[in-house]
Amino acid sequence: MRECYGWLDGDVALVDAGDPADLSASVRAAFADHYGEPPASVGRAPGRVNLMGEHTDYNAGLVLPVALAHATYAAARPRGDELVRITSAQQGETWEGTLAELGPRTIEGWAGYAAGVIWAMREAGHRVPGVDLLVDSRVPVGAGLSSSAALECSVAVALADLLGLDLTDDLRRELVEACIRAETEVVGAPTGGMDQTVALFGEAGSALLIDFTSHETTSVSLDLRGHTLLVTDTRVSHALTDGGYGSRRADCESAAKSLGVPTLREATRAAVDELTDDRVRRRATHIVSEIQRVTDTVTAFEQREWDDVGRLFDASHRSMRDDFEISCPELDTAVAVAVQAGAVAARMTGGGFGGSSVAVVPDERVDAVMRAIDAAFALEGFRSPVHLRAVPSAGATVDG
Ligand code: GLA
Repeated sequence: MRECYGWLDGDVALVDAGDPADLSASVRAAFADHYGEPPASVGRAPGRVNLMGEHTDYNAGLVLPVALAHATYAAARPRGDELVRITSAQQGETWEGTLAELGPRTIEGWAGYAAGVIWAMREAGHRVPGVDLLVDSRVPVGAGLSSSAALECSVAVALADLLGLDLTDDLRRELVEACIRAETEVVGAPTGGMDQTVALFGEAGSALLIDFTSHETTSVSLDLRGHTLLVTDTRVSHALTDGGYGSRRADCESAAKSLGVPTLREATRAAVDELTDDRVRRRATHIVSEIQRVTDTVTAFEQREWDDVGRLFDASHRSMRDDFEISCPELDTAVAVAVQAGAVAARMTGGGFGGSSVAVVPDERVDAVMRAIDAAFALEGFRSPVHLRAVPSAGATVDG
């Protein structure tokens, strides 16, 4: 596995997003080196960090993610036959198959995310030909930062470009659906759609409020004024196909069924309090309270009420730790230590069971917060974490 950490004095590991022009040039060169011809198109799609609204997307709720500057780059060239070849710079391997072989649950591992997009776009009626692809990424894998959606969406926009399609909002919406099908049907991860939506619709300088009932996206300008969004990857790896994610989803569906509502978006807190199954009640409590916190977090960021952001992040983290039960000791430590060392707000982010925390840190405290977390991890005997600065960035682009 190739890594791209920059090391600060005193050995704090910071993952650098890199310069998009350099990374695009480097993926073109790697493609030409590997396949003997230059690519016809390069797609770029970002990872994301979610500021509020965890596991609410598949409950028809609200989420508030930010697209990162850290992105995946996919170089593509159409072939004259039915062959599909996909090479990953990270994995150092090539997957090879034919268009006819692509379909639900037919491809194991990382290649399924990329090949799944080819299948889903063809299912949607696009005449995607046999193709050579090479992907390279600056999004840490298994860190809860949507490396899989970044991979899917970078391939989707590169393929759209090969087909001569313009990246209009309508096409972006279509590609979101194709990427969700790649993940849920081809790979078999029962995820909810937040990651693909922000990877395609994120805007520089903003978070994206997504409503999974109306399917509206609203850009929320983030004027952080002297604060940094600091992400800490605990390097406890998480896989959304492991069962924990799916069982949370099943508990939410069972809660909605008991309450006689189509989704937990329509449940009230008072009704949830009456649920008799303790576990199902706690799961539903998290969802209903978390959806309200998304609305409150938008207001708190807009008004730069850092104390409110802090209280909301804290309540969200506790809810995920105690009611939804998706945190772990490493995440709890990263969050507690960030706040002790000067962050105004911190919570775990993403699907959980490992992955990353996100903190809002006054610029002058960023170094101290990273070092305090590293020291606490060393003391606890945890793996050394890595950090990154989440710079709110634009969604997927092509560089044809
Ligand atoms: C993963 C999934 C998303 C979402 C989050 C939790 O990232 O891909 O759909 O459910 O977990 O908020």
